[in-house]
Amino acid sequence: MSYLFETYNRKNIQIKQAKGTLVKDEHGKSYLDFIQGIATCNLGHCPDIVTAPLKKQLDRVWHVSNLFQNDLQEKVAEQLVQHSAGDLVFFCNSGAEANEAAVKLARKHTQKTTIITFEKSFHGRTYAAMAATGQEKIKAGFGPMLPGFHHLSFNRLGELDQFMDDDIAAVMLETIQGEGGVIPASQAFLQEVAAFCKKKRALLIVDEVQTGIGRTGKAFGYQYQGLSPDIITVAKGLGSGFPVGAVIAKKDLGQSFSPGSHGTTFGGNMLAMTAANATLDTIFQKSFLEAVKAKGDFFQEELKTLLQYPLTKDIRGKGLMIGIECIVPVQPVIEELQSEGLLVLSAGSNVIRMLPPLNVATDELIMAVEKLNHVFEKAKINHTEENFFSLR
Ligand SMILES: Cc1ncc(COP(=O)(O)O)c(C=O)c1O
Repeated sequence: MSYLFETYNRKNIQIKQAKGTLVKDEHGKSYLDFIQGIATCNLGHCPDIVTAPLKKQLDRVWHVSNLFQNDLQEKVAEQLVQHSAGDLVFFCNSGAEANEAAVKLARKHTQKTTIITFEKSFHGRTYAAMAATGQEKIKAGFGPMLPGFHHLSFNRLGELDQFMDDDIAAVMLETIQGEGGVIPASQAFLQEVAAFCKKKRALLIVDEVQTGIGRTGKAFGYQYQGLSPDIITVAKGLGSGFPVGAVIAKKDLGQSFSPGSHGTTFGGNMLAMTAANATLDTIFQKSFLEAVKAKGDFFQEELKTLLQYPLTKDIRGKGLMIGIECIVPVQPVIEELQSEGLLVLSAGSNVIRMLPPLNVATDELIMAVEKLNHVFEKAKINHTEENFFSLR
């Protein structure tokens, strides 16, 4: 009997110990964890460079509210600003909250209403973030959505220009749709979005909750396409597993978040800021980001061996955010990989998503590729017409 709401389809194991890429379940079985809290433990589990300052901060001060000056917040904000197109930072506790704040900021600043987002996007589960999300299944049963959100086709050129509305506050997107299936935005599409925003005097909001904090081999995913977003949202990897989110915005938006306009009790909590500072000190180093990119390129190259199997359709992603698209639902193969000691997750129904820690070792990547090949080989032998992954 469980006292928990069944809001999650949980795996049948509990992680009792975790360090770096490796986790151990309650039976002592080890796994390579290529989920990492869903792109959250970007330095691997329990990284010493984060736990050491956290332990010190635990004995100093935990939480004082935002009624006080806070140089830990200043330091994290400075790091985020120095590595992004933004100038000012607001701290919150999650990705949904960051997106909620971004929508509020965009509407207040522009005094306009419409927010354009894209099909298959995922922006979180609060009402504004849910309204922004381009997936009906996320909204089903939750009554009227917050009005003013329109979803256009992702990566379809020409559609924005047919959108006849002059009340557009912002266009909001992920540069690689994560939950939607690890789908990268094309350069041409992003250029069109940027030009549209300029023409309509709408803000560009880039949701970097999954792609940010080094995941793609750059500090933020949008930096591959040379965009200059007005608002960037982050969470997940920012605290290495400590709950924290942030909105980073250009300075002219500053007056719209004036005293009393927005806030949250825990945002910028000292423990979260300590974790974030230590995380960014490492991840934002040029050599670290270059290594993420190199490892990602190596991993994608090795994964191409999987294309020999008829059930594999595509391998894509950037840095260490990788999707393997298959021609059928991937849940059974994910379960088989788990029993082989590799933890991965799905993105949509047909994509295996892999989010190893950014400091993953090359031999761990090779081990993962071997396990994948082994399971795909078994699937090839055991498949039926109805279910390619009928493995057992
Ligand atoms: C792109 C993106 N935005 C927002 C969110 C929501 O973040 P959170 O679960 O921290 O609210 C997620 C979570 O998966 C995400 O991937």
